[in-house]
Amino acid sequence: MGVTSRLTGLLARNKRTVPARPVPGAALAEIEDLYVRLGGREVLAGIDLTARAGEVLALVGPNGAGKSTLLAALAADLPAASGGIRIDGRPVGDWSAPELALRRSVLPQSAALSFPFPVEDVVRMGRAPWAGTPFADSDERVVAEAMAATEVTDFAARPFSALSGGERARVALARVLAQQAPLLLLDEPTAALDLRHQELVLRICRERAAAGDAVVVVLHDLGLAAAYADRAAVLHDGRIATAGPPAEVFDDALLSRVYRQPVEVFAHPRGGAPMVVPVRVAPASRGGADTAAGGAI
Ligand SMILES: Nc1ncnc2c1ncn2[C@@H]1O[C@H](COP(=O)(O)OP(=O)(O)OP(=O)(O)O)[C@@H](O)[C@H]1O
Ligand SMILES: [Mg+2]
Repeated sequence: MGVTSRLTGLLARNKRTVPARPVPGAALAEIEDLYVRLGGREVLAGIDLTARAGEVLALVGPNGAGKSTLLAALAADLPAASGGIRIDGRPVGDWSAPELALRRSVLPQSAALSFPFPVEDVVRMGRAPWAGTPFADSDERVVAEAMAATEVTDFAARPFSALSGGERARVALARVLAQQAPLLLLDEPTAALDLRHQELVLRICRERAAAGDAVVVVLHDLGLAAAYADRAAVLHDGRIATAGPPAEVFDDALLSRVYRQPVEVFAHPRGGAPMVVPVRVAPASRGGADTAAGGAI
Protein backbone atom coordinates (compact mmCIF):
# COMPACT_ATOMS: atom_id res chain seq x y z
CA MET A 1 0.00 0.00 0.00
CA GLY A 2 2.89 2.35 0.75
CA VAL A 3 4.06 2.54 -2.84
CA THR A 4 0.50 2.85 -4.17
CA SER A 5 -0.43 5.71 -1.89
CA ARG A 6 2.81 7.59 -2.66
CA LEU A 7 2.17 7.16 -6.40
CA THR A 8 -1.47 8.17 -6.18
CA GLY A 9 -0.46 11.20 -4.13
CA LEU A 10 1.91 12.30 -6.85
CA LEU A 11 -0.71 11.85 -9.56
CA ALA A 12 -3.41 13.60 -7.56
CA ARG A 13 -1.32 16.74 -7.54
CA ASN A 14 -1.26 16.79 -11.36
CA LYS A 15 -4.12 18.28 -13.30
CA ARG A 16 -5.93 15.96 -15.65
CA THR A 17 -9.17 15.56 -17.52
CA VAL A 18 -11.00 12.26 -17.24
CA PRO A 19 -11.73 11.01 -20.78
CA ALA A 20 -15.31 10.51 -21.96
CA ARG A 21 -16.28 7.00 -23.04
CA PRO A 22 -15.18 6.61 -26.66
CA VAL A 23 -17.66 6.68 -29.54
CA PRO A 24 -17.74 3.28 -31.34
CA GLY A 25 -15.18 3.27 -34.15
CA ALA A 26 -13.31 6.32 -32.79
CA ALA A 27 -9.57 6.28 -33.44
CA LEU A 28 -8.00 5.99 -29.96
CA ALA A 29 -4.47 5.66 -31.31
CA GLU A 30 -3.28 6.61 -34.77
CA ILE A 31 0.15 6.14 -36.26
CA GLU A 32 1.05 7.78 -39.54
CA ASP A 33 4.18 7.05 -41.58
CA LEU A 34 6.15 6.16 -38.44
CA TYR A 35 9.88 5.53 -38.51
CA VAL A 36 11.74 4.43 -35.36
CA ARG A 37 15.50 3.99 -35.00
CA LEU A 38 16.99 2.14 -32.02
CA GLY A 39 20.71 1.62 -31.48
CA GLY A 40 21.41 3.05 -34.94
CA ARG A 41 19.09 0.55 -36.66
CA GLU A 42 15.80 1.25 -38.37
CA VAL A 43 13.38 -0.87 -36.37
CA LEU A 44 10.09 0.46 -37.77
CA ALA A 45 9.62 1.98 -41.21
CA GLY A 46 6.61 3.57 -42.86
CA ILE A 47 4.03 2.28 -40.38
CA ASP A 48 0.40 3.39 -40.68
CA LEU A 49 -1.97 1.92 -38.11
CA THR A 50 -5.15 2.90 -36.27
CA ALA A 51 -6.60 1.33 -33.11
CA ARG A 52 -10.37 1.85 -33.02
CA ALA A 53 -12.87 1.75 -30.18
CA GLY A 54 -14.81 -1.51 -30.27
CA GLU A 55 -12.10 -3.46 -32.06
CA VAL A 56 -9.50 -6.12 -31.21
CA LEU A 57 -6.40 -5.60 -33.35
CA ALA A 58 -3.76 -8.35 -33.27
CA LEU A 59 -0.11 -7.64 -34.03
CA VAL A 60 1.64 -10.75 -35.26
CA GLY A 61 4.94 -11.54 -36.92
CA PRO A 62 8.23 -13.29 -36.22
CA ASN A 63 10.69 -12.53 -33.41
CA GLY A 64 12.36 -9.18 -33.99
CA ALA A 65 9.73 -7.99 -36.51
CA GLY A 66 8.99 -4.88 -34.43
CA LYS A 67 5.75 -5.76 -32.61
CA SER A 68 6.85 -4.63 -29.13
CA THR A 69 8.40 -1.49 -30.59
CA LEU A 70 5.16 -0.68 -32.38
CA LEU A 71 3.17 -1.27 -29.21
CA ALA A 72 5.52 1.04 -27.31
CA ALA A 73 5.00 3.66 -30.02
CA LEU A 74 1.21 3.32 -29.69
CA ALA A 75 1.66 3.76 -25.93
CA ALA A 76 3.67 6.97 -26.47
CA ASP A 77 6.53 5.30 -24.60
CA LEU A 78 8.98 5.69 -27.47
CA PRO A 79 10.34 8.68 -29.38
CA ALA A 80 9.56 8.52 -33.11
CA ALA A 81 12.37 9.37 -35.54
CA SER A 82 9.64 10.74 -37.78
CA GLY A 83 5.92 10.37 -38.30
CA GLY A 84 2.84 11.18 -36.28
CA ILE A 85 1.40 9.44 -33.24
CA ARG A 86 -1.95 10.60 -31.91
CA ILE A 87 -3.73 9.29 -28.84
CA ASP A 88 -7.40 10.10 -28.29
CA GLY A 89 -7.20 12.60 -31.13
CA ARG A 90 -4.23 14.64 -29.93
CA PRO A 91 -0.49 14.39 -30.68
CA VAL A 92 1.18 12.35 -27.91
CA GLY A 93 3.34 15.27 -26.83
CA ASP A 94 0.23 17.23 -25.87
CA TRP A 95 -0.72 14.84 -23.06
CA SER A 96 0.79 14.86 -19.57
CA ALA A 97 1.81 11.49 -18.11
CA PRO A 98 -1.22 11.36 -15.76
CA GLU A 99 -3.57 12.20 -18.65
CA LEU A 100 -2.00 9.44 -20.76
CA ALA A 101 -2.46 6.99 -17.88
CA LEU A 102 -6.22 7.59 -18.02
CA ARG A 103 -6.26 6.94 -21.77
CA ARG A 104 -4.08 3.91 -22.35
CA SER A 105 -2.86 0.99 -20.28
CA VAL A 106 0.12 -1.14 -21.20
CA LEU A 107 0.99 -4.74 -20.41
CA PRO A 108 4.72 -5.07 -21.19
CA GLN A 109 6.09 -8.23 -22.80
CA SER A 110 8.33 -9.18 -19.92
CA ALA A 111 6.66 -8.19 -16.71
CA ALA A 112 9.95 -7.40 -14.95
CA LEU A 113 7.89 -6.79 -11.82
CA SER A 114 9.10 -8.79 -8.88
CA PHE A 115 7.09 -6.94 -6.26
CA PRO A 116 7.13 -8.52 -2.83
CA PHE A 117 3.67 -6.94 -2.36
CA PRO A 118 0.45 -8.90 -2.00
CA VAL A 119 -1.30 -9.61 -5.31
CA GLU A 120 -4.22 -7.36 -4.38
CA ASP A 121 -1.89 -4.37 -3.90
CA VAL A 122 -0.23 -5.00 -7.25
CA VAL A 123 -3.66 -4.94 -8.94
CA ARG A 124 -4.63 -1.83 -6.95
CA MET A 125 -1.62 0.00 -8.44
CA GLY A 126 -3.63 0.09 -11.67
CA ARG A 127 -6.04 2.48 -9.96
CA ALA A 128 -3.37 5.12 -9.29
CA PRO A 129 -4.38 7.37 -12.22
CA TRP A 130 -7.90 7.72 -10.79
CA ALA A 131 -6.83 9.09 -7.40
CA GLY A 132 -8.50 12.39 -6.68
CA THR A 133 -11.23 11.85 -9.29
CA PRO A 134 -14.86 10.97 -8.45
CA PHE A 135 -14.19 7.52 -9.93
CA ALA A 136 -11.74 6.65 -7.12
CA ASP A 137 -14.79 5.56 -5.12
CA SER A 138 -15.01 2.52 -7.42
CA ASP A 139 -11.44 1.38 -6.72
CA GLU A 140 -12.24 -1.64 -4.52
CA ARG A 141 -15.04 -2.87 -6.81
CA VAL A 142 -12.89 -2.48 -9.94
CA VAL A 143 -9.90 -4.25 -8.32
CA ALA A 144 -12.14 -7.14 -7.22
CA GLU A 145 -13.68 -7.41 -10.70
CA ALA A 146 -10.29 -7.38 -12.42
CA MET A 147 -9.02 -10.15 -10.11
CA ALA A 148 -12.17 -12.22 -10.66
CA ALA A 149 -11.99 -11.80 -14.45
CA THR A 150 -8.39 -13.07 -14.56
CA GLU A 151 -9.04 -15.80 -11.94
CA VAL A 152 -6.50 -14.56 -9.41
CA THR A 153 -8.89 -13.85 -6.51
CA ASP A 154 -7.78 -17.01 -4.71
CA PHE A 155 -4.25 -15.66 -4.31
CA ALA A 156 -5.18 -12.06 -3.51
CA ALA A 157 -3.25 -12.08 -0.22
CA ARG A 158 -0.16 -13.97 -1.44
CA PRO A 159 3.08 -12.16 -2.37
CA PHE A 160 3.27 -11.50 -6.10
CA SER A 161 6.88 -12.73 -6.12
CA ALA A 162 5.75 -16.16 -4.85
CA LEU A 163 3.47 -16.89 -7.82
CA SER A 164 4.10 -19.05 -10.87
CA GLY A 165 4.91 -17.43 -14.20
CA GLY A 166 1.38 -17.81 -15.57
CA GLU A 167 -0.18 -16.63 -12.31
CA ARG A 168 2.02 -13.52 -12.39
CA ALA A 169 1.04 -12.86 -15.99
CA ARG A 170 -2.66 -12.93 -15.02
CA VAL A 171 -2.06 -10.58 -12.07
CA ALA A 172 -0.17 -8.20 -14.37
CA LEU A 173 -3.17 -8.27 -16.71
CA ALA A 174 -5.54 -7.67 -13.79
CA ARG A 175 -3.55 -4.53 -12.93
CA VAL A 176 -3.92 -3.30 -16.52
CA LEU A 177 -7.67 -4.05 -16.53
CA ALA A 178 -8.12 -2.22 -13.21
CA GLN A 179 -6.66 0.89 -14.84
CA GLN A 180 -9.84 1.08 -16.98
CA ALA A 181 -8.19 2.95 -19.82
CA PRO A 182 -10.16 2.84 -23.10
CA LEU A 183 -7.04 1.81 -25.06
CA LEU A 184 -5.47 -1.50 -23.95
CA LEU A 185 -2.03 -2.37 -25.29
CA LEU A 186 -1.12 -5.95 -24.43
CA ASP A 187 2.24 -7.46 -25.39
CA GLU A 188 1.98 -11.26 -25.53
CA PRO A 189 -0.49 -11.56 -22.63
CA THR A 190 -0.93 -15.28 -23.35
CA ALA A 191 2.75 -16.28 -23.66
CA ALA A 192 2.96 -17.92 -20.21
CA LEU A 193 -0.62 -19.15 -20.01
CA ASP A 194 -2.21 -22.60 -20.21
CA LEU A 195 -4.91 -23.37 -22.76
CA ARG A 196 -7.82 -22.36 -20.53
CA HIS A 197 -6.28 -19.04 -19.56
CA GLN A 198 -5.22 -18.20 -23.12
CA GLU A 199 -8.86 -18.45 -24.13
CA LEU A 200 -9.93 -16.55 -21.00
CA VAL A 201 -7.61 -13.64 -21.82
CA LEU A 202 -8.78 -13.39 -25.42
CA ARG A 203 -12.41 -13.52 -24.27
CA ILE A 204 -11.61 -10.62 -21.93
CA CYS A 205 -10.15 -8.74 -24.93
CA ARG A 206 -13.39 -9.31 -26.83
CA GLU A 207 -15.49 -8.22 -23.85
CA ARG A 208 -13.49 -5.01 -23.52
CA ALA A 209 -13.93 -4.32 -27.23
CA ALA A 210 -17.68 -5.02 -26.94
CA ALA A 211 -17.80 -2.52 -24.07
CA GLY A 212 -16.28 0.11 -26.38
CA ASP A 213 -12.53 -0.09 -25.71
CA ALA A 214 -9.80 -0.48 -28.32
CA VAL A 215 -7.60 -3.52 -27.72
CA VAL A 216 -4.24 -4.02 -29.41
CA VAL A 217 -2.73 -7.39 -28.59
CA VAL A 218 0.57 -8.93 -29.65
CA LEU A 219 0.19 -12.67 -30.25
CA HIS A 220 2.39 -15.45 -31.55
CA ASP A 221 -0.50 -17.90 -31.77
CA LEU A 222 -2.04 -17.18 -35.15
CA GLY A 223 -4.99 -19.44 -34.31
CA LEU A 224 -5.87 -17.22 -31.34
CA ALA A 225 -5.46 -14.13 -33.48
CA ALA A 226 -7.70 -15.59 -36.18
CA ALA A 227 -10.36 -16.65 -33.70
CA TYR A 228 -10.57 -13.45 -31.67
CA ALA A 229 -9.22 -10.46 -33.61
CA ASP A 230 -11.28 -8.21 -35.86
CA ARG A 231 -8.11 -7.24 -37.70
CA ALA A 232 -4.54 -8.48 -37.73
CA ALA A 233 -1.42 -6.64 -38.80
CA VAL A 234 1.41 -8.92 -39.90
CA LEU A 235 4.77 -7.30 -39.19
CA HIS A 236 7.89 -8.23 -41.09
CA ASP A 237 11.28 -6.53 -40.78
CA GLY A 238 9.84 -3.36 -39.26
CA ARG A 239 7.06 -2.95 -41.81
CA ILE A 240 3.43 -4.01 -41.99
CA ALA A 241 3.39 -6.76 -44.61
CA THR A 242 -0.41 -6.85 -44.62
CA ALA A 243 -3.32 -5.86 -42.39
CA GLY A 244 -7.00 -6.70 -42.39
CA PRO A 245 -9.49 -9.32 -41.17
CA PRO A 246 -7.55 -12.53 -40.37
CA ALA A 247 -9.60 -14.56 -42.85
CA GLU A 248 -8.40 -12.22 -45.60
CA VAL A 249 -4.77 -11.68 -44.61
CA PHE A 250 -3.70 -15.08 -43.23
CA ASP A 251 -2.52 -16.43 -46.54
CA ASP A 252 -0.29 -19.53 -46.85
CA ALA A 253 2.26 -17.93 -49.15
CA LEU A 254 2.53 -14.66 -47.22
CA LEU A 255 2.84 -16.32 -43.80
CA SER A 256 5.33 -18.90 -45.10
CA ARG A 257 7.51 -16.09 -46.46
CA VAL A 258 7.25 -13.84 -43.41
CA TYR A 259 7.93 -16.62 -40.87
CA ARG A 260 10.45 -18.45 -43.10
CA GLN A 261 8.51 -21.58 -42.23
CA PRO A 262 6.15 -23.33 -44.63
CA VAL A 263 2.60 -23.18 -43.27
CA GLU A 264 -0.83 -24.27 -44.46
CA VAL A 265 -4.01 -22.36 -43.72
CA PHE A 266 -7.26 -24.29 -43.28
CA ALA A 267 -10.77 -23.04 -42.60
CA HIS A 268 -12.12 -24.35 -39.30
CA PRO A 269 -14.94 -26.80 -40.05
CA ARG A 270 -17.20 -24.83 -37.71
CA GLY A 271 -17.26 -21.08 -38.26
CA GLY A 272 -14.53 -21.04 -40.90
CA ALA A 273 -11.89 -19.14 -38.87
CA PRO A 274 -8.45 -19.72 -40.39
CA MET A 275 -6.23 -22.30 -38.69
CA VAL A 276 -2.52 -21.93 -39.40
CA VAL A 277 -0.52 -25.14 -39.24
CA PRO A 278 3.21 -25.56 -39.91
CA VAL A 279 3.99 -28.00 -42.69
CA ARG A 280 5.49 -30.99 -40.86
CA VAL A 281 7.08 -34.26 -41.84
CA ALA A 282 4.36 -36.91 -41.77
CA PRO A 283 4.81 -39.35 -38.83
CA ALA A 284 5.08 -42.36 -41.20
CA SER A 285 8.14 -40.90 -42.93
CA ARG A 286 9.91 -40.15 -39.65
CA GLY A 287 10.79 -43.82 -39.56
CA GLY A 288 11.20 -46.18 -36.65
CA ALA A 289 8.61 -48.76 -35.64
CA ASP A 290 8.93 -47.59 -32.01
CA THR A 291 7.77 -44.09 -32.90
CA ALA A 292 4.91 -45.31 -35.04
CA ALA A 293 3.75 -47.57 -32.23
CA GLY A 294 3.93 -44.68 -29.78
CA GLY A 295 6.17 -46.87 -27.65
CA ALA A 296 9.72 -46.55 -26.34
CA ILE A 297 10.98 -43.01 -25.86
N1 LIG B 1 17.06 -0.69 -27.67
C1 LIG B 1 17.31 -1.28 -28.84
N2 LIG B 1 18.43 -1.04 -29.53
C2 LIG B 1 18.70 -1.63 -30.71
N3 LIG B 1 17.84 -2.51 -31.30
C3 LIG B 1 16.71 -2.77 -30.66
C4 LIG B 1 16.36 -2.20 -29.41
N4 LIG B 1 15.16 -2.68 -29.02
C5 LIG B 1 14.77 -3.53 -29.99
N5 LIG B 1 15.69 -3.58 -30.98
C6 LIG B 1 15.62 -4.39 -32.20
O1 LIG B 1 14.45 -4.02 -32.89
C7 LIG B 1 13.86 -5.13 -33.52
C8 LIG B 1 12.41 -5.23 -33.11
O2 LIG B 1 12.34 -5.54 -31.73
P1 LIG B 1 10.96 -5.83 -31.04
O3 LIG B 1 11.21 -6.05 -29.60
O4 LIG B 1 9.98 -4.78 -31.42
O5 LIG B 1 10.53 -7.21 -31.76
P2 LIG B 1 9.26 -8.12 -31.54
O6 LIG B 1 8.55 -8.22 -32.86
O7 LIG B 1 8.49 -7.66 -30.39
O8 LIG B 1 9.93 -9.55 -31.26
P3 LIG B 1 9.54 -10.74 -30.21
O9 LIG B 1 8.51 -11.58 -30.92
O10 LIG B 1 10.82 -11.48 -30.07
O11 LIG B 1 9.07 -10.13 -28.95
C9 LIG B 1 14.71 -6.33 -33.13
O12 LIG B 1 15.57 -6.64 -34.19
C10 LIG B 1 15.48 -5.87 -31.93
O13 LIG B 1 16.73 -6.51 -31.85
MG1 LIG C 1 8.12 -8.42 -28.51
